Amino acid sequence: MEQDDYIIRGGIEGRERLRILSRVLRPTTLDFLKRAGARPGMRCLEVGCGGGDVTCDLARLVAPGGTVLGTDIDDPQLAIARKEAEAQGVGNIRFVHSDITREIPDGPFDFIHARFVLTHIPDPLAALRRMRSVLAPGGVIAIEDIDFRGHFAHPPSPALDRYVALYTEMVRKRGGDANIGARLPALFAEAGLPPPQMHIVHPAGHEGEVKLISPITVQNIVPALLRTGLATQAEIASMVEELYIFARTPGTVAALPRIVEVWARV
Ligand SMILES: C[S@@+](CC[C@H](N)C(=O)[O-])C[C@H]1O[C@@H](n2cnc3c(N)ncnc32)[C@H](O)[C@@H]1O
Repeated sequence: MEQDDYIIRGGIEGRERLRILSRVLRPTTLDFLKRAGARPGMRCLEVGCGGGDVTCDLARLVAPGGTVLGTDIDDPQLAIARKEAEAQGVGNIRFVHSDITREIPDGPFDFIHARFVLTHIPDPLAALRRMRSVLAPGGVIAIEDIDFRGHFAHPPSPALDRYVALYTEMVRKRGGDANIGARLPALFAEAGLPPPQMHIVHPAGHEGEVKLISPITVQNIVPALLRTGLATQAEIASMVEELYIFARTPGTVAALPRIVEVWARV
C-alpha cells in the first residue's frame, strides 16, 4: 500500500487537518492511553502515527526509560513528525516508514497503539495479528477507531448526511470500513487476543474546532472522492460550503463519529 492509496490527503495539508483533530481528541486519547496502562519504562509502537501528535504524548507518558517508535506510509508526515518531536524536545522517539499491511518493526513492544488506522486497512485482522506477534508477554494492544454512523447534527444537516453516506461508501469501495469501531472486539477475538475492555467517546459540540472537522475532512478527501466517481466537483463544493456555514452558525450542534476504544493485555 502506498500513500496514494490512502483516501485522506496526507503531506503538509493533511498535517493541518490532523493537528486540529489531535487538539480536539487530545484529552480523551491521553485518558485512554493512561487507562490502557501506558507507564514509564515501556517500549511502545504507534502504528499509522501521521504527524506524530499521539506519538509525542505517548513518549512523554512512558518517560523516563520508555521509548516510542512511530510508523506510517506517509513520508512527508513522518518528516514533519520528526521535526516537531525535536522542536518539543521529545528525545525518546523515532519515526520510520513501515506499511502495516505488509510488515511490522521488530519487537518486542510493551504497548502498541493505533488510532484511526485499521478503518483504512482492507485486512484489519492480518494487521492486528501482526501487532500481536510483536507484543511482549504482559503487553497491551490499544486501538481507537471510528463508527461513522455516530454523526449527528442539530438542526438536521442534509450536507452532513450526504457526507457520511459518501465517505462510508468511498471507504468501502477502497476496502476499508468506516464503521469498524463496533467490530473491534470481534477482531480482537479472531486475532487470538484476550477479551478486551471497551469504552466509547463521542466528540460533539456547539462551538469550537470540533465543528470544523467534517468540512475540513471533506476538503481533504476531494481527489479520492472524485476518483471513485461518487460525486461531482460541483456537488462536493456545495457540500463543503454548506458544512462550513453549518459549523459557523451559532447554536448548531455537530457530532463526529463515535470513537470506540478497545484494549487488551496478553
Ligand atoms: C486518520 S490518520 C490518523 C493519524 C494518527 N494515528 C492520528 O490519530 O492522528 C491515518 C494514518 O494512517 C496512515 N496509514 C494508512 N495506511 C497505512 C498503512 N498501511 N500502514 C501504516 N500507516 C498507514 C496514514 O498515512 C495516516 O497517517
